[in-house]
This record gives sequence, C-alpha cells and structure tokens, in this order.
Amino acid sequence: MGGRASGTPVLQARGLVKTYGRVVGLDGVDLELYPGEVLAIIGDNGAGKSTLIKCLTGAEVPDSGEILLDGRPTHFRRPQDARAAGIETVYQTLAVSPSLDIASNLFLGREARRSGLIGSLFRIVDTAGMRRRAREELRELGITTLQDVTVPVENLSGGQRQAVAVARAAAFGSKVVVLDEPTAALGVRESRQVLELVRTLRDRGVPVIIISHNMPHVFEIADRIHVQRLGRRAATITPQTHTMTEAVAIMTGASEG
Ligand SMILES: Nc1ncnc2c1ncn2[C@@H]1O[C@H](COP(=O)(O)OP(=O)(O)O)[C@@H](O)[C@H]1O
Ligand SMILES: [Mg+2]
Repeated sequence: MGGRASGTPVLQARGLVKTYGRVVGLDGVDLELYPGEVLAIIGDNGAGKSTLIKCLTGAEVPDSGEILLDGRPTHFRRPQDARAAGIETVYQTLAVSPSLDIASNLFLGREARRSGLIGSLFRIVDTAGMRRRAREELRELGITTLQDVTVPVENLSGGQRQAVAVARAAAFGSKVVVLDEPTAALGVRESRQVLELVRTLRDRGVPVIIISHNMPHVFEIADRIHVQRLGRRAATITPQTHTMTEAVAIMTGASEG
C-alpha cells in the first residue's frame, strides 16, 4: 500500500531544467513516484509545478535532465508518447472538446471502432458501444455527476467538465495518472468525488501525482508530498512527519524542512 516509497520508482526525474527565454521554469528538479502511492506536489505560484508535470508527460521537452519510466530512460516528445506509455494527464488548462458529447470526450483520440470489416474498412465509430463503455467506466469510477453521456460537454458546468477530464485520465491511465489542480474549480461534493477517485486509482495499483493548493486535501490524500520551490524540490515530506503549517513554511522558504 501507500507510503512505502521503496523499490524502483515508476516515474522519476533527475535534474530537470526547463527555461523559457530568460525565465527559469525548472532549475534542476528531482522527483520520484513509487508504486502504489499518491504523490502530492505543492508549491507557490510560479514554483514550477505545472512545468514539472508537463516535462514528465510530454507536453514540454526539458532542456536537460533525465526522465525514467520503470528505471529506463524515456524521451517523451509529445503528450501522445506519454499516453502510449500508460501515463494519463489532466492539465491545468482543460483539454475537452466542448461540441462533442461526454462519451466522445472520454474516448477522444482512441474512439472505439466497430468490429469486423465495416469497422476496419470504413473506420465507422461504434457510437452505441462507446456510450455503453462510457457509462460503465463512469459507474465503475463512482462518478455520479455525469448522468447522460450523450450531453455535449459545452452544456456542462465547469466542475462537470473537470469530472470528464479526470474520468478520461482514470479510465485510460494504466501506469500513472497525473492531475494538475483537479479540484480548483470544483464544489465541495465534486471535490470529494475526485479525491475518492484518486483513492480508487491507487487501490487499483495506479500511482497518482496530484498538484493541489488545498492543504487539507493534500494532507488527506497524499502518501508523500513533494514541495516545489523556485524551480527545484525543497523537500519531500509526509502527512505523518509534518504539519500543514510546516509544509507551508517550506513552500515559502521560511523553513528549510
Ligand atoms: N510557456 C511559458 N512561457 C514563459 N514562461 C513560462 C511558461 N510556462 C511557465 N513559465 C514560467 O515558468 C515558471 C513556472 O511556472 P509554472 O510551472 O506554471 O508554475 P506553477 O504551476 O508552480 O504555478 C513561472 O515563472 C512561469 O511564469
Ligand atoms: Mg500550475
């Protein structure tokens, strides 16, 4: 179960550097995600949290440093590369297609084809099958806020859209799921569902990286907490070894951890 932080990391970063012109996004950051754990990343605005997960998931290519998947060096050039390796990500800026319905959004980029000649020859999308699977996935994930999978995503609330994005990651992330601020726009009930989902994933054996500003959420859900500060890792702590106040002190540089 969670919190052991042992064995070979599923995902690891060593000395990642990423600059944007003269702006330093990442300044030699290390990170380890171990099997069976929820790793939270906390840090002030601009600390490099989003840049770090973008580098880990192919949305950005680091200037230098190493990324290892199951101990083997990898070079993701695009998010599709990371997805193909089983890493699903919900980025801070949501990527849903508003005009498509919920089911289509869940299967975006990997639409189910009808089986047999018709499917392979004409590449006909199996809408009924996709909707059935979408309903099953949502039920299995315990997501009750999305009742009708045929509703276009543009008709959903911000929280429901977020639920679609999180559900997609949860449904297809076979190795790692990464969530950047998944509860920031959500109400209390929707936030609880996302936290439950994170637990479900971990209990299914899928480690999760979650970025959050919500300290109570972080301390409730995380096995370990990576504290990001000024483009680097200031400390790795746990809810058992540190209080929220101490975590914030490390985050802001008031304490060395
Ligand atoms: N595309 C970009 N172009 C220029 N600067 C960027 C870009 N993305 C991030 N940065 C800068 O890199 C630093 C880290 O940003 P970010 O990773 O978004 O921080 P966080 O997610 O912790 O708030 C910030 O100074 C930010 O302004
Ligand atoms: Mg961010």
